[in-house]
Amino acid sequence: MSRIVIVSNRTPAKGPAAGGLAVALRKVLDEREGFWFGWSGKLAEEPSREARLEDIEGLKVAQIDLTRADHHAYYAGFSNSILWPSFHLRLDLATIEGHWYEGYRRVNQQFARALLPLLKPDDIIWVHDYHLIPLAAELRALGARNRIGFYLHIPFPTADALYAIPHHEDLMRDLSRYDLVGMQARRDVAAFNEFVDQTAPNVFGSSNKPFDFSRTEIDAFPIGSEPDAFARLAVSPAAIKMVNRMKRALGDQALVLGVDRLDYSKGLPQRVEAYEKLLTNDARFRRNVHLLQVAPPSRDSIKEYQETSDALDAICGRVMGQFAEPDWQPLTYVKRAYGQPSLAGLYRLARVGLVTPLRDGMNLVAHEFIGSQNPEDPGVLVLSRFAGAAEIFSEALLVNPFDTDETAEAIRMALDMPLDERIQRWQALMKAAQRHNVIDWAVSFLDRLAPGTNGASSSTRDILYLASVA
Ligand code: G6P
Repeated sequence: MSRIVIVSNRTPAKGPAAGGLAVALRKVLDEREGFWFGWSGKLAEEPSREARLEDIEGLKVAQIDLTRADHHAYYAGFSNSILWPSFHLRLDLATIEGHWYEGYRRVNQQFARALLPLLKPDDIIWVHDYHLIPLAAELRALGARNRIGFYLHIPFPTADALYAIPHHEDLMRDLSRYDLVGMQARRDVAAFNEFVDQTAPNVFGSSNKPFDFSRTEIDAFPIGSEPDAFARLAVSPAAIKMVNRMKRALGDQALVLGVDRLDYSKGLPQRVEAYEKLLTNDARFRRNVHLLQVAPPSRDSIKEYQETSDALDAICGRVMGQFAEPDWQPLTYVKRAYGQPSLAGLYRLARVGLVTPLRDGMNLVAHEFIGSQNPEDPGVLVLSRFAGAAEIFSEALLVNPFDTDETAEAIRMALDMPLDERIQRWQALMKAAQRHNVIDWAVSFLDRLAPGTNGASSSTRDILYLASVA
């Protein structure tokens, strides 16, 4: 069986706080030979030429350091001030400084140079996310002939948003150097095909297409979580500890819960405004509901993220000022990260899960919320139409997150929903979450990337399932 090499900007963190995706890819590497390659999280005077090999809790990891200047241009600059806002259709929040592209390219070259000596000819390479679009092109320029796949975790933009990105034509050519490009949702594949089919000749003033995708397969591989593992986690001692703590604080109030990185794509101010409208429109909910928003800070060196944080502070303050009483608070807002067991407990306790991003690749919180529910008394998922998850979870209450009246009404419906309807909807959602679990996702991507080299994929899948039950 060929080895699998996973490449991403960040390598998995130590300890229990690791996200579901990292846990799933670790399982692939536990079962197959291979290693994970990425940035060490460290900044150095000189860029590393060679990777440092390390064993992190049984996982083989190869890491490189970046210089401060390169990291700034590559991560805060090109990746998160140009690509992230443009791919999320927030050109108003993009900072177009074309020179950051040089740092972005340089870091991708540095990744390729440090990775190449570690590769065997039949290794299968799986590159993750927008930080590393040029990596296959850089590896191929150094002579790598391996099968290389790319997975985009965020949405693919419309043509107009793509045009706003400096060097977008280079990036599209870079994508064509992969054997397989995976996206989250059908809408992303459609946007990609539309760009490639219709817009390219006009831009370049000739009928010759500037990119040739005839050797690259593009398809949707919607990512998922491990819903059955979340079901177990939600009743684990650590989860129960959190649940008891919350129950003491809540009394009889129904919990309305949001869990998101503090990112402008998550629609947090709009969500709190919808909650404010719920309390304004319907006095019977005052003193009877409580919104808990968990929002760990993210990318806080970037001005637009600081502004999002300020906007959220302001609106939470406004709602508190308007509705709080000496002995009742309408909401709690914590800017801190919690481990998966505590979150699973909170998801299970919540009557309503609010997953209302303005745009999102998939949104794994939606999957994890569903997995964690009590089958006999499940909560209700209020889900943005603009999350990739909406293509999978049609039984959620789907909302337009820009329309805060609609979201307020969905929260009301969720709070008033009778038990039998909650159970019916949840059962359908749980089936969909199980069908889209992260292990099948990883196996199906790898099967498609390297057919025939993956061993018997059904046995790979079985082994991964066994590992996940353990
Ligand atoms: C999104 C991206 C990931 C990224 C994560 C956290 O999910 O798709 O690539 O790792 O956000 O963001 P950060 O900038 O902290 O790595």
